[in-house]
Amino acid sequence: MTVPIAIIGTGIAGLSAAQALHQAGHAVQLFDKARGPGGRVSSKRSEAGALDLGAQYFTARDRRFVSQVQQWKEAGHVAEWKPALYNCKGGQLSPSPDEQTRWVGTPRMGAIARAMLDELPSTFSCRITEVFHGASLWHLLDAEGNQHGPFSHVVIAVPPAQATALLATAPKLAAVTAGVQMEPTWAVALAFDEALNTAMQGCFVQDSALDWVARNRSKPGRDDARDTWVLHATSAWSKEHLDLPKEAVIDHLHGAFAEILDCAMPAPSFSQAHRWLYARPAGGRDLGALADAHLGLYACGDWCMSGRVEGAWLSGHDAARRLLEHLQ
Ligand code: FAD
Ligand code: NAI
Repeated sequence: MTVPIAIIGTGIAGLSAAQALHQAGHAVQLFDKARGPGGRVSSKRSEAGALDLGAQYFTARDRRFVSQVQQWKEAGHVAEWKPALYNCKGGQLSPSPDEQTRWVGTPRMGAIARAMLDELPSTFSCRITEVFHGASLWHLLDAEGNQHGPFSHVVIAVPPAQATALLATAPKLAAVTAGVQMEPTWAVALAFDEALNTAMQGCFVQDSALDWVARNRSKPGRDDARDTWVLHATSAWSKEHLDLPKEAVIDHLHGAFAEILDCAMPAPSFSQAHRWLYARPAGGRDLGALADAHLGLYACGDWCMSGRVEGAWLSGHDAARRLLEHLQ
């Protein structure tokens, strides 16, 4: 019987590692504490439809990722988003078009993760609390006290604070993850029955509690009945208001949105807030992935690279490459 490789985390990094290992002929078994795959690219269901409250779009600059995105495009999992982009600085809103290609999952961001997961064996609603070594193989313990394994190797593809807790057997790797700070983001969705009177579809914001605003139905493949907007607060504002009740966050960010928009702002008919505790790494890195090849333990995630979808994908890819190299 082949002993599978365990992958903890089904965000883009874990899924990228899983795909590369599976394509190389290895059995994998994925685990995630959430109910489905995607992590920060997952879409939340709501009465206003599926909401992309995390990653809004992504760019592809590395040729390996460009080629992956091309395959997703051909399979219909992603499409190019060409928003009417604006910039808001010092309260001044101005069009800010550019030539950058931006991609979104269709019909929602989470579609990429669903496609990557495909039929790979996976266990959801399963929070791993310990990774430990048996005789010569690895085992996992979950929050309910269940044991999983054995596994030949373990790839830990979760944010650094959560990775540190799982890396007790690899203190050198744990020391690296413990040094990576992640910053929070408050995200709010507002749905309006009447479309807002603006041509804006996406806006980079400075000098405000907000740093990004997007009109959901301007993305390809969406069929929102209402005019739904996603607002992201800056890391600084989010950190300062980490424990504010959701209603107060919605009020404040709705107000900040009204300030930047050059049209009357009605009350939304639907609103929702989500706090991402580990939204983005403070600063960029070029670690690829962390490896203790001798032990058979690997760690990856956007925090090893650029803190973007592409960085997460590249890091997962690198973890798989290093694991496969060690097997040769
Ligand atoms: P994650 O997506 O965080 O995946 C980690 C997974 O591990 C999660 O599914 C989690 O449930 C699981 N997990 C954690 N601990 C455990 C455990 N103990 N046991 C089991 N499972 C566990 N990037 C862009 O490129 N463009 C954008 O526009 C953009 N906007 C963003 C906006 C927001 C608000 C946020 C939060 C992120 C945004 N990003 C954006 C960043 C992008 O979403 C991330 O870089 C990328 O999705 C990270 O992928 P990952 O696999 O490294 O981590
Ligand atoms: P990108 O190239 O579109 O944007 C990178 C940055 O360049 C933007 O943040 C913005 O400051 C600036 N920019 C780009 N085009 C602009 C334009 N037309 N007008 C004015 N400014 C412009 O995309 P990339 O490099 O893939 O970055 C991903 C995006 O994801 C960034 O906007 C980043 O802030 C966001 N992100 C948000 C997170 C969060 O927690 N809110 C976490 C991780 C990424």
